[in-house]
Parts: sequence; C-alpha cells; structure tokens
Amino acid sequence: MDEFAWFMGAFRQLTGIDLTRYKRPQMERRLTNLRDRRGFSSFPAYVQALEADGTLLNELLDKMTINVSEFFRNPERWDTLRNLVCDMGATPRVWSAACATGEEPYSLVMMLSELRRMGHPVLATDIDERVLDRAAAGRYDPLQVRGLDKHYLDRYFSFDGREYQVHADVRENIRFQKHNLLEDDYPNALDLIVCRNVLIYFTDPTKQDILERFSNALKPGGILFVGSTEQFFGMKLPNLAPVAPFMYRRLS
Ligand SMILES: C[S@@+](CC[C@H](N)C(=O)[O-])C[C@H]1O[C@@H](n2cnc3c(N)ncnc32)[C@H](O)[C@@H]1O
Repeated sequence: MDEFAWFMGAFRQLTGIDLTRYKRPQMERRLTNLRDRRGFSSFPAYVQALEADGTLLNELLDKMTINVSEFFRNPERWDTLRNLVCDMGATPRVWSAACATGEEPYSLVMMLSELRRMGHPVLATDIDERVLDRAAAGRYDPLQVRGLDKHYLDRYFSFDGREYQVHADVRENIRFQKHNLLEDDYPNALDLIVCRNVLIYFTDPTKQDILERFSNALKPGGILFVGSTEQFFGMKLPNLAPVAPFMYRRLS
C-alpha cells in the first residue's frame, strides 16, 4: 500500500471521513502540501502529531473541506431558480446540502421570503460542524457580503460597524444539521435540493451514487440545483431531466 493510501485509512479512523471517495490527485496534493509546510516528511509522523494536537487536525480538516461560499453565488442561475420556485407550491421543502458558512441557505431564505414562499424551515447541512456553528451565528464581514444587493443588506441584516448580522427571524427559518453526503440517510419528499461546489471533489462513481440519492430525495417534479462547475458527462441521470443549466427536474 502506498503512503497516501495508508494515510486515508488513518484519516478515516481519526475523523470518520472516507477520503477514497474524493478525487485523489487534488486531495493528495492539497494535504501533502500542508503536511510539508508543517515540517513532517512522512504521513505516519504527521498522523502521530494529528492524534496529539487538535489544532493541527482542525487545520487539516479546513484544508480538506474547502469551505468557501458566497451569497447568491452565480446570480444569473438564481434568477432561473427564482422562476422555477414560482412554479412550486406555497411552502416548498428545501435542502441546502454542503452549505459551508451559510451564505447559500440564507440566500434561499431571502429568496423564499421575497417570493412569499417561506413556510418550512430550510434544512442546511454540512459534514463540518465548525463551519455549521459559524453558519448558524450568521455573522459576516463586509468582504463576505460585498456582492449582496443593498436591498438585502437593509432588509435582512444589521451592521454593528464591523460585521453584518443576519436578523434572528431569518436565522430561525433554517435548521442547521451535521450531515455526511457519503454516509448519512437523506431526507425525502423535497421540492428543491441545492448542492453546489462539492460534487466536483468526489470520484465519478460516488457522484453517480449521490445523484441517485438526490433523485430519490426529491418529489416528482422537484428540482436539483448544482454548482456552475458541475457537469455529469458520461453519467446516468437517474429519473432526472435537465431544465436549465445546472438544474434538473425529477421526472416521476
Ligand atoms: C466549496 S463549499 C460549498 C459551499 C456552497 N454550497 C457553495 O457552493 O457556495 C464545499 C462544502 O462541502 C462540504 N463537504 C465536503 N465533503 C462533504 C461530505 N462528504 N458531506 C457533506 N458536506 C461535505 C465542506 O465541508 C464544504 O463546506
């Protein structure tokens, strides 16, 4: 067994995360770079240090999970989504999967509120609990909200001179929960799943498996919205048909 394969086993023991289901070249490059920067020349030596030092392990988890997000990321896609949501029932059931620091579920709540479609709380999940704590706090610095229309800032945030805080009544419309897309059960009877900029990190068989589980989690007619870098060339679209770029509808 090569050393990175050994490391993936040790990492699973430490964190419960199965790295073999993520694309290896990217992951190996990112994690080996970090290991080298911390002065360890082998994975066994690094793992010994990770077992003893929670800060080092958290840093590695940050490197592995890539938690960047934005409000209304790729705004033109959200314009399309708005039109699709208008055709849904009065209170759509929505899941923001791999939500990172929360910009995506907050964008969804703002959109649903403006469309008067807010009923069920939006389910917002991620594998990384630390990032979910930050998401639930709903505090963002001015750089993080720079792309957000002033209308949303005025209506849904307060500013204390340093940070923008999402209003409590917006936060109450989201249920944050830890969820591993590779291991955990999926919810069902959903009208909309938003899962963006995470499938790209997985191997093709894993992506195919997740697509099938997403399809089953939707109601017939429900929508799956994926990231603008995510394409499913050569894959089966299980009971899903494209309705717009990066959006798929469950058929039956
Ligand atoms: C780049 S962020 C995407 C954030 C947001 N969806 C967006 O597009 O702006 C990727 C997120 O996927 C999460 N993630 C990685 N592996 C995961 C898994 N197996 N299950 C659930 N979330 C995962 C990471 O923790 C990270 O927060």
